[in-house]
Amino acid sequence: MSTEPMPTEGPSADRTNRTGLPTLVTGGTGKTGRRVARRLTALGRPVRIGSRSGQPPFDWNDASTWAAVLDGVGAVYIAYYPDLAYPRAPGTIGSFAELAVGLGVRRLVLLSGRGEAGARASEQALQTAASGVGVGAGVDWTIVRASFFAQDFSEHFLLPAVLAGVIALPAGEVAEPFVDVEDIADVAVAVLTDPGSRHAGQVYEVTGPRLLTFAQAADEIARASGRALRYQPISTDEYVTGAIAAGVPAPNAGLLADLLAGVLDGRNASLGDGVRQAIGRSPRDFSDYVECAAAGGVWGSEEQQ
Ligand SMILES: NC(=O)c1ccc[n+]([C@@H]2O[C@H](COP(=O)([O-])OP(=O)(O)OC[C@H]3O[C@@H](n4cnc5c(N)ncnc54)[C@H](OP(=O)(O)O)[C@@H]3O)[C@@H](O)[C@H]2O)c1
Repeated sequence: MSTEPMPTEGPSADRTNRTGLPTLVTGGTGKTGRRVARRLTALGRPVRIGSRSGQPPFDWNDASTWAAVLDGVGAVYIAYYPDLAYPRAPGTIGSFAELAVGLGVRRLVLLSGRGEAGARASEQALQTAASGVGVGAGVDWTIVRASFFAQDFSEHFLLPAVLAGVIALPAGEVAEPFVDVEDIADVAVAVLTDPGSRHAGQVYEVTGPRLLTFAQAADEIARASGRALRYQPISTDEYVTGAIAAGVPAPNAGLLADLLAGVLDGRNASLGDGVRQAIGRSPRDFSDYVECAAAGGVWGSEEQQ
C-alpha cells in the first residue's frame, strides 16, 4: 500500500516540482538515496523509493518495472546501480530518462562520478533524454558529479579492508578530495526542491574541502577508531586477484579495478566547488566524517573485537 498523499494539484507544465507530486528516489535505500529520501520526508515532501525492495519494486535490469514507479512522479533522483560508468549504464539511464520525460516528470537529478569516461556518457544520455525531443519544452536536469565517497570506508567496499587493517588499492600516492555523502544529499535535495529553475542545466562538481592520500585517510581512521590500519599501494592485477579471492566475480573485479585505476591516476587530485555553488556553504571535512562514523561504532576498535 502506498503511503504517498494524493497530489494537491494535477500535472501541469510547471517545471518547479511544487505540485506536491512525489519525488522518486532511485537507490533510495543506498548510501546517497536514503539520505535524500530522509531529508525530503523531513521537509514534508512525498517520496517514492525506487529499489528492488520498494513498492512498487523497481529494477534497473527489468524495464517492465519502470513505468509503474514513474507513474505520477514530479521529479527523480537517479543513483544508478551498480555504477554509471559501467558499459550498460548510458543506454539504461537514457532509456529510463526518456520514459520519465514521456510520463511527465519535470526534473531529473543524476548522481555522477568525477573523471570517468563512462560516467560522461551516462550524463550525455540523460541530457539528451531531458532535452525532450518530441516531448515539448524539455525538463530540468542537473548533474551532481561526485568525487570518491568518504562513506566508501564505512558503508561500502572499503569497510572490510578497514576492519582487516589494510587498505590495498591501485592508487599509488595519489590524493583524493573525499566527499561526504551527507553533502551530496544536501545538494541533491536543494536541487530537487528548488521552487525555480536556478539549478537547471548545472553540473555540480562536489568534493570534500581537502586532498588526502589513502595513507592519510587510513591514519585519520586509525586515530579515531583505535584500530591498527595502514594503506598499501598495489598494482591493478594484484587488486583483481585479491577481489576475486574475496568472492567478487571476475568480470566485476576487472571493471572495478579499471575504474579505480582510472579515477585514482591523479586526474581527480583537485578540489571542486559544487557544494558551495549549489548550497552556498563549505563541504564537510573528512575529519568530521571520520569522527561521526567512529562515534556510530561502524569500525568498533580492536580492543572490542
Ligand atoms: N562510491 C563512490 O565513491 C561513488 C563516487 C561517485 C559516483 N558514484 C555513483 O553512485 C552510484 C551509486 O549510488 P549510491 O552509492 O548512493 O548507491 P548504493 O549505496 O550503491 O545503493 C544501492 C541502491 O541501489 C539499489 N539497487 C541495487 N540493485 C538494484 C537494481 N538492480 N535495480 C534497482 N535498484 C537497485 C539498492 O536497493 P535494493 O537492494 O533494494 O534494490 C540500493 O538502494 C553509482 O552509479 C556510482 O557510479 C559512486
